Amino acid sequence: MEVVPLATAAEVARLAADIIEELVRRRAAADGAAVLGLATGSTPLATYAELIARRQAGAGPDYRGVRTFNLDEYVGLPPDHEQTYLATIRRELTDPLGIPPEQVHGPDPALAGLPGAGERYEAELRAAGGIALQVLGIGTDGHIGFNEPGSSLASLTRIKTLTARTRSDNARFFGSADAVPRHVLTQGIATILRAGHLLLLATGEAKAGAVAAAVEGPVTASCPASAIQLHPHVSVILDAAAASALTRLDYYQEVWAAKPDWQGL
Ligand code: F6R
Repeated sequence: MEVVPLATAAEVARLAADIIEELVRRRAAADGAAVLGLATGSTPLATYAELIARRQAGAGPDYRGVRTFNLDEYVGLPPDHEQTYLATIRRELTDPLGIPPEQVHGPDPALAGLPGAGERYEAELRAAGGIALQVLGIGTDGHIGFNEPGSSLASLTRIKTLTARTRSDNARFFGSADAVPRHVLTQGIATILRAGHLLLLATGEAKAGAVAAAVEGPVTASCPASAIQLHPHVSVILDAAAASALTRLDYYQEVWAAKPDWQGL
């Protein structure tokens, strides 16, 4: 795992955008199409805006062949609701980048097919050849995707129930915590760990405790994000506030400052 402590959220967005663009270019040069796993929520929005700005300035790669898979989706919202994660990712990223809507995927929360929705999403991910780069945020309670504390580290895509804390954290998107759906479909921890490279982004002081538990605490279902310690290729990109509770912060800063140019992330 590489922990990259940067000063500001804007620097986090620029570095994360560099990593995503590098993958898209590398796959295109190999005559392939990048398969990206995407988080929603507030944290990656600055990265997504950076990618769009670069593309619109003519500097970003061509995204038309890219396929994307969302981490999770609310259950129970009308399909045309603006806060579904599929609508959110299309609005905030894939439409502005020119990725065709049929290449933009998420777990299907339609009530009629709900019991098999997790297995169907796993099959879609397998058919796509797996996710090359998975963007992750982290909840204040240590969740990744919507795998709340107590989620099995071996879990696959399935229905979960949000904690009161997550519903309250997400109230800003819905006007009140009561309006936040209680149920979600989410990639499981084992699903997330199958991606080739995990890119966990965190900004702001509210994430400092969860980040420290994920990076330096024990691997435990009580902090689902700690499962990233089991993955061989993880980049954790943090602003100063999100990094503030790390006990090995000096070391991470030293590693980053002395990183050889050839090494990459
Ligand atoms: C969203 C997701 C969640 C969020 C997390 C942090 O697709 O998977 O794990 O990344 O809840 O949300 P923000 O970034 O809004 O603080």
